[in-house]
Amino acid sequence: MATYTLPELPYDYAALEPVINPQIIELHHDKHHAAYVKGANDTLEQLAEARDKEAWGAINGLQKSLAFHLSGHILHSIYWHNMTGDGGGEPLAADGVGDLADAITESFGSFAGFKAQLTKAAATTQGSGWGVLAYEPVSGKLIVEQVYDHQGNVGQGSVPVLVFDAWEHAFYLQYKNQKVDFIEAMWAVVNWQDVAKRYAAAKERADVLLLAP
Ligand SMILES: [Fe+2]
Repeated sequence: MATYTLPELPYDYAALEPVINPQIIELHHDKHHAAYVKGANDTLEQLAEARDKEAWGAINGLQKSLAFHLSGHILHSIYWHNMTGDGGGEPLAADGVGDLADAITESFGSFAGFKAQLTKAAATTQGSGWGVLAYEPVSGKLIVEQVYDHQGNVGQGSVPVLVFDAWEHAFYLQYKNQKVDFIEAMWAVVNWQDVAKRYAAAKERADVLLLAP
């Protein structure tokens, strides 16, 4: 039985219009995300076979493949829930997400400063990557990460809570080469309730690294 499975979308393909059109959502979820799930499962099988046969000739490629596909699966699983057709604006205490709003201000100085940094990090990825807001458990603060592919350029132990997919497959059919326009439009579909839930959960398990037992 497969270790990883493709989660269902929490909405229909047209739910994020006009920011993201249905064709992109369908391909992105049903083909791209599905390929990462299959890739992670296939790689685990190949690693099991390598252990059985004690055949380690492909170990470097397999470990890279595991990191790539598993991280792709995880980031996309977060991505779908980070968005809603009723989203946008900024997190406000009146909407029950005051803890997240306070953490953003404490970590970045202001919401505007945070928004500018995440927009820039996502829109300037070279090649394929992501802009990510993550909870960093050692400092107890939020940080922005500019992720290469799905797995590079991240701090170990940081937990992604808001992710902007900046791969061409996320926008090219609609925005062509205007990646910055896509990233700026993304703010209108951010599901702050979901981000706040992820932030609270990440903070709960902040001692998981046990750096100072
Ligand atoms: Fe993607």
